[in-house]
Amino acid sequence: MDQDQLKQLVANAAVDYVMSKLERNSVIGIGTGSTANLFIDGLAAHKGAIYGTVASSEASAERLREQGIPVYELNAVDRVDVYVDGADETNAHLQLIKGGGAALTREKIVAAVADEFVCICDDSKLVRHLGAFPLPVEVIPMARSHVARELVKLGGDPVYRDGVVTDNGNVILDVYNFPIPQPLTTEAQINAIVGVVTNGLFAQRPADVLLLGGKDGVQTLHASPA
Ligand code: 5RP
Repeated sequence: MDQDQLKQLVANAAVDYVMSKLERNSVIGIGTGSTANLFIDGLAAHKGAIYGTVASSEASAERLREQGIPVYELNAVDRVDVYVDGADETNAHLQLIKGGGAALTREKIVAAVADEFVCICDDSKLVRHLGAFPLPVEVIPMARSHVARELVKLGGDPVYRDGVVTDNGNVILDVYNFPIPQPLTTEAQINAIVGVVTNGLFAQRPADVLLLGGKDGVQTLHASPA
């Protein structure tokens, strides 16, 4: 199976997982990216049973509406029962790097609100140590150079993601050559730089469940203690 087929497999498993738990007023948080898109398409078959969703990006909101699935603003709902999203990397503690699609801030907000965070990945994303994937950092535009200098002091090589403006009107710096042995510390350090909106480390709020697609099917994994 190639990577796209594995993404389809985990997206299908996530639809089954979510639908088996859904109650009448449940709100589903929806991630962003190619795996999340497959999840959205799979949900469409059950749209009559879905009270509503909250999206982590304008792109996902638009895809949900195209499929006839109700979308609410996060401020209009009392809770998010379950949040389903992909990742760029995960470790065994289900700490993640996200933001390859530049939606990291809204993803982090929806994940923080959600009772349960289900990450859906193919097994190429499972790594021993985070950091081979360049770490996305969302930055207020006027602070770009300042934040880049501070990231260099932390040991990384920040690169401006040319031409990308986030749904929040900000820019992205991708930090290359930046191994992350202590994700909790690094997440906090980067977020403390003035001008940073947030970074793509999901360590303070890791996933609760990982649906991991591999050649032998989908495994359901829980975090090993950090
Ligand atoms: C978007 C994300 C995505 O979840 C991440 O980039 C994975 O994307 P894909 O499912 O397309 O591989 O964090 O900001």
